[in-house]
Amino acid sequence: MKECSHVAIIMDGNGRWAKAQGKPRTAGHLAGADNVRTIAIAANELGVKYLTLYAFSTENWKRSQEEVGYLMKLPKFFFEKYMKEFIGRGFRIRIIGEMDALPEGTAQVLREAEEESASNTGLSLNIAMNYGSQREILLAAKAYARDVAEGKADLNLDETGFEQYLMTKDFPPVDLLIRTSGEQRISNYLLWQIAYAELEFVDEAWPEFTPEVLKRCLEEYSHRDRRFGGVKQ
Ligand code: FPP
Repeated sequence: MKECSHVAIIMDGNGRWAKAQGKPRTAGHLAGADNVRTIAIAANELGVKYLTLYAFSTENWKRSQEEVGYLMKLPKFFFEKYMKEFIGRGFRIRIIGEMDALPEGTAQVLREAEEESASNTGLSLNIAMNYGSQREILLAAKAYARDVAEGKADLNLDETGFEQYLMTKDFPPVDLLIRTSGEQRISNYLLWQIAYAELEFVDEAWPEFTPEVLKRCLEEYSHRDRRFGGVKQ
């Protein structure tokens, strides 16, 4: 199978999945968090090097206080349950998003996960938390403008140089973007980074996105003909 180094996933459909089972939306998020572990392990076994998951967007603050509160507590449940295993498997946890705007307890748990796994060289499990791509690009533009004003950068900036200002500066471009649960939207996710990514939209809700479905996505990816704007030789 053709190598797919960086997979990004919009983990949609937790709420609908829970509702269909007569459970509260938060039960869908909990099942979704457990599935992050399952899919991270499967992705690693399938040769993925970077897995970037959309856990909370800058727009998700509009949800009910109860749901937002629960989503802010999830990282603690999640890392308490699985961090030891992730360390054992050599996973490196990295967070993208504006951590300063998160509740202090949530930000601290995320920072600790990053620190504890910083020397690991296996799968890079990247969690997007309070992340929005337009905001990321705006903040990058501001940081660059500041560097120019302070004489730390000149105006000869190219794409690679600009990428150093993005939250994903340590990751390669996305090869494959998957969205679960039937919607066909990008929802402000990794807009710069998916410039030449292959896109796949699957019907399964995130809690039902199994390793077999991931494998099916990677097989589909391996049949795609990526030309990056060029012509097939
Ligand atoms: C979208 O489904 C999902 C979210 C907004 C939250 C995703 C979060 C997780 C899967 C948990 C991950 C947590 C950690 C700490 C790794 P939705 O609620 O919008 O579903 P709906 O469209 O059916 O309402």
